[in-house]
Amino acid sequence: MYGMVNKAMHKMVVDFHGEETWVRIRERAGCEIEDFVRMDAYPDAVTYGLVGAAVEELNADPAALLRAFGVYWISYAQESGYRDFFQACDSYISFVQQLDAMHARLQLAFRELRAPQFACTVLSPTSVRVVYRSQRHGLAPFVIGLFEGLGPVFSVKAAVEKTGEHISEETGVEIHYLVQLEPA
Ligand code: HEM
Repeated sequence: MYGMVNKAMHKMVVDFHGEETWVRIRERAGCEIEDFVRMDAYPDAVTYGLVGAAVEELNADPAALLRAFGVYWISYAQESGYRDFFQACDSYISFVQQLDAMHARLQLAFRELRAPQFACTVLSPTSVRVVYRSQRHGLAPFVIGLFEGLGPVFSVKAAVEKTGEHISEETGVEIHYLVQLEPA
């Protein structure tokens, strides 16, 4: 994944646990890269290795860590020059409906991006069904955190529930979520 993702992981660990903990995670993962380059693409194994090492070093639940990272990513992206992307929509649901278009725009800069796909069905003004599709495995809890983290951007609280999944080695993952909104 792009260095931006690994940089965000680095910053989240430093914010909550300090730089020394990050160095131990990096060493445990056998990762010799001290500073990731935001716009360079790294093998997914680097990111997965760091997440696995963080789980061990922090004695964390893998799903809880990925979910927290999803929440963190939303703030991190806004602080990293992408605030306009979030301000382009005036509601949570309209933002979620254009996630594929947003990643398509990002692809112009991140040429090697392997973007996820999101299909939305709006059920009511406060609830939406989302189907997430990816070639990558294991990121379902990250997506929960992302949808939760988007709530405060649009002054709502988002309750996110995984409602189903279909996982295939050949075609990748398809995960279904129900997102319900209430005033923050
Ligand atoms: C403007 C803000 C954002 C930027 C700059 C951004 C950029 C990226 C980048 C660079 C990756 C790594 C993929 C790769 O290297 O191939 C990624 C992955 C991902 N992004 Fe975004 N993203 C943003 C917002 C979002 C939002 C709001 C969501 C969903 C609510 C989202 C969902 C995901 C997911 C699930 C992945 C993991 C890849 C996968 O599932 O295969 N992103 N994004």
